[in-house]
Amino acid sequence: MNNIYKPHLAVIKEVIEESFDTKTFRLKFKDDKTHNLFTFKPGQFAEYSAFGDGESTFCISSSPTRKDFIECSFKVYGKVTQSLNRLNKGDTIGIRGPYGNSFPLDDLKGKNILFIAGGIGIAPVRCTIEYVLDNRDQYKNIIIIYGARSTGDLIYKDEVKEWIDRKDVKTIITVDPGGESPSWKGEVGFVPTVLEKTAPASENTAAILCGPPVMIKFTIPVLTGLGFKDDDIYTTLENRMKCGLGKCGRCNIGNVYVCKDGPVFTYAQIKCLPQEY
Ligand SMILES: Cc1cc2nc3c(=O)[nH]c(=O)nc-3n(C[C@H](O)[C@H](O)[C@H](O)COP(=O)(O)OP(=O)(O)OC[C@H]3O[C@@H](n4cnc5c(N)ncnc54)[C@H](O)[C@@H]3O)c2cc1C
Ligand code: FES
Repeated sequence: MNNIYKPHLAVIKEVIEESFDTKTFRLKFKDDKTHNLFTFKPGQFAEYSAFGDGESTFCISSSPTRKDFIECSFKVYGKVTQSLNRLNKGDTIGIRGPYGNSFPLDDLKGKNILFIAGGIGIAPVRCTIEYVLDNRDQYKNIIIIYGARSTGDLIYKDEVKEWIDRKDVKTIITVDPGGESPSWKGEVGFVPTVLEKTAPASENTAAILCGPPVMIKFTIPVLTGLGFKDDDIYTTLENRMKCGLGKCGRCNIGNVYVCKDGPVFTYAQIKCLPQEY
């Protein structure tokens, strides 16, 4: 019988130092057949293992439209991410997944999409942006708002430059007040303030919003004030997980399993979750 917890082995083909505390691993499964058969959708996540130290949950930050590698980006945090941080090009890690639901990008065809990301929340958003850009003719106006604490915290600098250079995407990058370097040419301000100033049209528009809870908390009222309906606001919940596939009960809120029923939820769905959340 197949062991559902057994990870596939993947080799680190490249380590990208995104910032002082965040890295991206460019990965390829050791087994070519596994690599070719591995499919996922934007918003899904996987369990990544550092052998001997355990597993960590990260979204898949590359787009399924770019098949040569899969990528994950992680902030160095606790035991497992510290262990992953010590690995180098050529080393092997384990991957289980993909797990969870995804952003409903088929249903969003023909709509405008507003992407809002803060901190490491840019990882699932980057995957989704690249998917949409690789299918650009199927979506209308694209606006990207990405905020970080400081210029030193910004990640995906090459990708961000490409988004800024594109004429068919409006990209706004902001850092928190006090976080700007002397040469900074982007916005200065918290994400909700910058969103309010940008005032994107809500008609026929879906908002995809990922970031720290405090950012989500203050951004949703701005979206609502701009006329976005609860059903048109998509975000991800990042409850602590163990199994990733609805077995251990670690991630649940009431009878909702974030790993299986999420991590993507509309604001309308989140409003129905038990008060304790
Ligand atoms: C669906 C999903 C997608 C995610 N995607 C990413 C990603 O792309 N990149 C990224 O850097 N991080 C992501 N995270 C968060 C990431 O899983 C945790 O920060 C990471 O597991 C910490 O790993 P660690 O083993 O180093 O920390 P641990 O040693 O396991 O923990 C360190 C401390 O952080 C707490 N902690 C760990 N994880 C969580 C959590 N999820 N919620 C609340 N407290 C927690 C622990 O209780 C402990 O106090 C995601 C989480 C989820 C659920
Ligand atoms: S992580 Fe085990 S049930 Fe969700």
